[in-house]
Amino acid sequence: MQLTALSVQHVRRIREAQIYPSNETNLISGRNGSGKTSLLECIHYLATARSFRTTRASNVISHGQLALVVSGELTDAAGQANRVGVEKTRNTTRLKLNGEVVTIASKIARMVPVLTFNTESYLLLDGGPANRRALLDRLLFHVEHEYLDVLKAYHRGLKQRNSLLRSRASREQVSLWDHQLSPIAAKIDRWRSDCVAALNNYLGQSELIDACGSLRLEYHRGWHPDQEFETLLGVNFSKDQDAGVTAIGPHRAELRIKIEDKLAKTIVSRGQGKLIIAAIVCAQAKYLSDRGQEDPILLIDDLASELDPTARSLAANTLLGTKAQIFFTAIETTDLPCEVRDSARLFHVEQGRVNPLTTTG
Ligand SMILES: Nc1ncnc2c1ncn2[C@@H]1O[C@H](COP(=O)(O)OP(=O)(O)OP(=O)(O)O)[C@@H](O)[C@H]1O
Ligand SMILES: [Mg+2]
Repeated sequence: MQLTALSVQHVRRIREAQIYPSNETNLISGRNGSGKTSLLECIHYLATARSFRTTRASNVISHGQLALVVSGELTDAAGQANRVGVEKTRNTTRLKLNGEVVTIASKIARMVPVLTFNTESYLLLDGGPANRRALLDRLLFHVEHEYLDVLKAYHRGLKQRNSLLRSRASREQVSLWDHQLSPIAAKIDRWRSDCVAALNNYLGQSELIDACGSLRLEYHRGWHPDQEFETLLGVNFSKDQDAGVTAIGPHRAELRIKIEDKLAKTIVSRGQGKLIIAAIVCAQAKYLSDRGQEDPILLIDDLASELDPTARSLAANTLLGTKAQIFFTAIETTDLPCEVRDSARLFHVEQGRVNPLTTTG
C-alpha cells in the first residue's frame, strides 16, 4: 500500500498542508520544531487513527482549534486508490473510507501496515515486555486475519478468570475458564513463535546485524515451555487467587532482544541500539511483504542522529532495500546518504508549512 496523496489540517504546528509523495522514497527536511515529525504523525493517524507520540488528541490538535483533519489516498498493489480520512476532536474520532463512515478503526488499519522508527522505538530495547509483545501483535494482526479476534477473546476470558479469582470463586468455577483459555493461548503462542522464527531468519541475513554482533530475538511464551497451560493454571490456582490475577499466559509473553547470551540493552551503545532497531524494522517489513500483505509504509524519523556516516549509509541502504514506501526526516537533506537524497522526493518544512523542495544542479 502506498500513500499517494496527503492533506493535513490543524496538526500541531501544521495549519494546512498537502503533499503528493513518491511511491518509493520521500525525504522531509527542516529545522528543529518545523513540523517534520508532525507530518509523520499525520501519516500514522491516517493509517491507524492514532498518534505514535501521545494517546491524547488534544496534544496534537493545533492550539486554538477544535479538530484535526488528515485525509489522503492509499493506493494498493493493484493500483486501486482508496480515499481515507480521519477527523479528531478532543473526544471523538470520525473515520471515512471512500466516502463511507467507518466505525471500526481496524478496518482501515488492516489495509495499510505502518512501521515506525523514532525516539519511541528505543522502548523496544529499554521498555517493558508490553512494547515487544505489541510488535508481534501488530505484525500478526496484518498476517493472520483471525489474530485480533483470538487475542481479544483471550483477554476477555482472562478478565473473567481474574474477576472470579478476586471474588474467591471455587477452583471448579475457575477451572472452566482454564479449559476455555487453554486452546486460545496455544493458538496465540503458535502464531507468535512462528512470527519470531521468521523475524530471526531475516535478522540472520541482515548486514546491519554484522555491524552489531549476532542479534537474536528470544521468545518466551508466558508459561513453562514443556508444560500444558491448563495444567499449570490448575497448579497455580491458590497463588493466583491470593494475588487476584493470573500469573502466566500469553499476556506475560516476552521477546528478549539478545546479543550472544546477553540482553542487547545491557551492552549496546546508543548508536548500535539504533542499528538494531533499524534491523528489526527491516525484518518486519520483509515479513509483511513476504507473507503477501500489502507492502508497509515506513516512517523513519531522524535516522541520522547518533549514527556515524558508515552506519547511516548502512542503515539507510538496508531500509531502501525493503522496497517499501519510505518517509525519512532529517534536519538537512545532506544528513542522509546520497542513495536516499538522489532517489527521494524532497519536501521542506518551515514553521509548519510544507513545500516540495527542488534541487538545483
Ligand atoms: N498542539 C500544538 N499546537 C501547535 N503547535 C504545536 C502543538 N504541539 C506541538 N507544537 C509545535 O509543533 C512544532 C513541530 O514539532 P515537531 O516535533 O513536528 O518538529 P520537528 O520538525 O520534528 O523537530 P525536531 O527536528 O526537533 O525533531 C514544535 O515547534 C512544537 O512546539
Ligand atoms: Mg522531530
